[in-house]
Amino acid sequence: ASNMLVDSFGRLHTYLRISLTERCNLRCQYCMPAEGVELTPGPLILSQNEIIRLANLFVSSGVNKIRLTGGEPSIRKDIEEICSQLSNLKGLKTLAMTTNGLVLARKLPKLKDCGLNLLNISLDTLVPAKFEFMTRRKGHERVLESIYTAVDLGYNPVKVNCVVMRGFNDDEICDFVELTKDKPINIRFIEFMPFDGNVWNVKKLVSYAEMLDIVGKRFKGLQRIQDHPTETAKNFTIDGHQGTVSFITSMTNHFCSGCNRLRLLADGNLKVCLFGSSEVSLRDPIRDGADDNELQKIIAAAVKRKKASHAGMFDIAKTPNRPMIHIGG
Ligand code: GTP
Ligand code: 5AD
Ligand code: SF4
Repeated sequence: ASNMLVDSFGRLHTYLRISLTERCNLRCQYCMPAEGVELTPGPLILSQNEIIRLANLFVSSGVNKIRLTGGEPSIRKDIEEICSQLSNLKGLKTLAMTTNGLVLARKLPKLKDCGLNLLNISLDTLVPAKFEFMTRRKGHERVLESIYTAVDLGYNPVKVNCVVMRGFNDDEICDFVELTKDKPINIRFIEFMPFDGNVWNVKKLVSYAEMLDIVGKRFKGLQRIQDHPTETAKNFTIDGHQGTVSFITSMTNHFCSGCNRLRLLADGNLKVCLFGSSEVSLRDPIRDGADDNELQKIIAAAVKRKKASHAGMFDIAKTPNRPMIHIGG
């Protein structure tokens, strides 16, 4: 159709990430500074109705996958309603969430009923004391409980996101891989990325090549799966393991040429790339009474401004962006 979200490089955008809140119940060092970040005042955060209206518009423009992010999406009060409404949008195939898992276990059965069908849970260490250091909060056990609850509820795979940082958790890579032995867990090792207010430094980046070497030396029969061109992850199976192992190589081996992702931030800004400061407000025109046609024009123009790829890790680290907690990954 004519309203498909194609950029000037021919990339079709079918995956929308919606940040539901800038708030979080953890304080991860790689995501935000210790003092926290400035929060957008409540009235300027998109309402449930505004989110649904925009999501509907994106779905009618070819989006078939929506991922809820944050901050921490599961702490939004109307999360169940939002999931129900989104999963009912005709044309949406996947409703996903990326969550820290801290308060997820008890909410998950209901969220599953509301149509949440793909779950990515962040966990960066298997050592409780290290968890407290990195997240500046307690709760390691509750995250593990959420992962196992997700497995029990039939999420398959349950994706576990692990940001690898030298000197912090690079010694735990093989322990994480062990989790895939008997469970349908997809452990995803993520290269550490720079965002405003985080503690990025190239010395802390553990590259894809290095991680692959560590896993390959210890686990025999590590084999690359043929991935879809829009995949963020490089996926592998291991002989005798029920789960899988992946690497998200945004820094040393970016996957921008297959990018199909757009981001709607909690304050209503549309962000066409994870990196760079190019954003446009959709909230303001909505509140000024814009009709769907006008909104679609604003969205199309923003998509056309999208760059071929990000600028490379050193330039990214120098270019103003938002803190990760505002973007949601
Ligand atoms: P799936 O939809 O399950 O494939 O997950 P995802 O990888 O798209 O999303 P998730 O929220 O689990 O993010 C995992 C890591 O990938 C995070 O570090 C994200 O910042 C990163 N990521 C997600 N989308 C993009 C993207 O478009 N570009 C880049 N460079 N990184 C991304
Ligand atoms: N580098 C890489 N990944 C990050 N995430 C948060 N901050 C960073 C960073 N600096 C991950 C989270 C979550 C996903 C949305 O992004 O761990 O799993
Ligand atoms: Fe897409 Fe930007 Fe991520 Fe590259 S860095 S994959 S262009 S969102």
